[in-house]
Amino acid sequence: MKPRGCFITIEGGDGTGKSTLVAGLEARFREMGRKVHVTREPGGTDLAEEVRRLVLTPPHGSSWSGLGQTLLVYGARRDHLEKLIIPALEAGDIVISDRFSDSTRVYQGLGGVDRATIDALDLIVVGSTQPDLTLILDGPVSELLARREGRGVSDVFEAQSLDYHEKVRSAYLDIARSNPDRCKLLDALMPPDEIIGQAMSLVDRVLAHHG
Ligand code: TYD
Repeated sequence: MKPRGCFITIEGGDGTGKSTLVAGLEARFREMGRKVHVTREPGGTDLAEEVRRLVLTPPHGSSWSGLGQTLLVYGARRDHLEKLIIPALEAGDIVISDRFSDSTRVYQGLGGVDRATIDALDLIVVGSTQPDLTLILDGPVSELLARREGRGVSDVFEAQSLDYHEKVRSAYLDIARSNPDRCKLLDALMPPDEIIGQAMSLVDRVLAHHG
């Protein structure tokens, strides 16, 4: 049997530079001759992208409860796992997902859904297909938001206050502290090349265990 591929998730608050890191990792893997799938959440499959639209830009005048959002993102996540992530890992490929379950723990957690509910759903929906490595981009909120200026506000979560973004940051720091083997913090204020370099050395360690 082929060894299982490698599942990497990229996490962090808005404006931390996740897309640059994802693109940098993808390029490095391709240079190494590895087959890599870049994807995102909510989304990644046709159906899950439909759910993304409903969650991030609900019809004018309507809004989801925290629990409603949680159930939607886990429905989308199951489709993403069944159609993309699990088959790719079974083929021995690398999967890089821009956000995954930790985003639900952070964002829906801040929306009032308790961690036990999210973890129970995660066990049912994700089960053993947990990420091998989660890279969390972390940095001071005000500097990161200033960097993002001009990009405009694009969804219900980005339109939140500074205080909210601080809460997002500390929720990620909590997750990193509770899962030191899986989660690694990267300083989002470093130059992109340095971030990608540090990320690759963390990835190399994980790949060494995979053979
Ligand atoms: P996205 O546009 O992908 O990234 P960013 O805002 O960092 O450029 O953002 C998706 C939004 O979806 C983000 O604000 C977090 C939110 N989200 C959740 O609330 N729950 C989830 O489970 C996931 C995956 C994302």
